Amino acid sequence: MKNVNIGLVGLGQIGIYLYNELQKKRKDIELKTGKKINITAISAKNIKKKRKFKINKKIFFKNPLNILKNNKIDILFECIGMSSGISKKLVETALKNKIHVITPNKALISKHGDYLSKLAEINKVNLEFEASVAGGIPILRTIKESLATNKIKKVYGILNGTCNYILSEMESSKDSFKNVLSRAQKFGYAEPGNPKLDLNGYDAFAKIRILSSLSFNKNISKHKCLMEGIERIESKDIEIADQLNFRIKLLGITELINNKLFERVHPCLVKKDSYIANVSGVMNAVILHGEPVGETVLQGEGAGPGATSSALMSDLLSILRGNIKFPFGVSSKKRKFVSSYNLNMYSNSLYFRFEVNDKPGVLSQITQSLAKSSISVERLIQIPDHKNKKASIIIITHKTNELDANKCLKSFKFNRNILKVPTRIRLF
Ligand SMILES: NC(=O)c1ccc[n+]([C@@H]2O[C@H](COP(=O)([O-])OP(=O)(O)OC[C@H]3O[C@@H](n4cnc5c(N)ncnc54)[C@H](OP(=O)(O)O)[C@@H]3O)[C@@H](O)[C@H]2O)c1
Repeated sequence: MKNVNIGLVGLGQIGIYLYNELQKKRKDIELKTGKKINITAISAKNIKKKRKFKINKKIFFKNPLNILKNNKIDILFECIGMSSGISKKLVETALKNKIHVITPNKALISKHGDYLSKLAEINKVNLEFEASVAGGIPILRTIKESLATNKIKKVYGILNGTCNYILSEMESSKDSFKNVLSRAQKFGYAEPGNPKLDLNGYDAFAKIRILSSLSFNKNISKHKCLMEGIERIESKDIEIADQLNFRIKLLGITELINNKLFERVHPCLVKKDSYIANVSGVMNAVILHGEPVGETVLQGEGAGPGATSSALMSDLLSILRGNIKFPFGVSSKKRKFVSSYNLNMYSNSLYFRFEVNDKPGVLSQITQSLAKSSISVERLIQIPDHKNKKASIIIITHKTNELDANKCLKSFKFNRNILKVPTRIRLF
């Protein structure tokens, strides 16, 4: 194909920026690939909506599925963002019609990636999703191509810019979670309506599932996993972490332990002098351990229209250059199911914060319960609030497994002197 027809569905934050990029970069694309691109079909929910860049209404389709029926397109961009529904239907139909698909939709790929990649392989077309993980950082292509023969053991990183911005800003401004979240929403770093999927770890988790699959040549895992967000982190935790020479970061981590997959997303206390502790604001970073390459670090903008479009354009050029390959790097037939690591066995030092009534005996009730669960204390800090007759008790434990920690936390439920569910942050 010399002339390539493009369909673009979804003209929101990402789609509209991409639309403009595609128009602006036509010459550059031709220079680098020898192909002339034309946007011949676009679609969004509402044709009348005011958009940042002017669109050609003559090529607008009210029903995006009609693009695939009535119009000859070679490559489809899906930029709607649903995990199923119209996003899945559209991608599925396109692949069945031998149309290449490019999408930044991590929710769709982490849920239906196995099925869709099989469809792409059967129909000998590409399904590309570089922009679905860490925005502009070329992490998926790095794993698929540049590190193709490495044995990857562990991948971790900061995969959600919204959470990283909030945690960094809480530290520098000493402001509350609530106030910083509303600033993040004002600046467009957090969704104005419902930022829940960023804050509760779901967004980072979808990315971790994709990274696991690519790194370890396995099917996308469906196991229930450890997923905690940052909603319960308070300024107090940030301050105490600072005093202890730590920072709090929401990390996504995936690794193979004895051939079992261990995926998790949760806030971590990281040493201030570590690389990951110094990735701040909306930045993302991914660190991977491969054999023989060693440790590799990629850092950059993890979201936003510019960074995401950059990744979408790299997928486009890959297709235009004839790079037809397996969406997950190896054939779907060769990707195997992986069993999951028993979370109860995961052992780590923990940070606990207890909010208590400042009464004699409360501290010993806590330490006795910890001892009963075989949890030993490495450090203890008590911060009294004399005015309100309350106190915060912070405990850093020695290595403790999840089973013991969970049992112990449950035992505090009926202690009336403990005023809130204790905060737990794992050390990294
Ligand atoms: N925003 C980011 O920084 C970022 C970063 C990385 C990846 N992503 C991914 O990029 C994708 C798009 O995100 P976004 O932020 O651009 O979302 P968005 O601003 O909410 O845009 C969604 C678009 O989909 C259109 N749409 C909704 N239902 C439709 C339907 N039934 N038929 C046709 N079009 C429909 C909407 O139409 P109307 O405009 O008419 O309402 C809108 O243009 C998501 O998968 C997201 O996860 C986003």
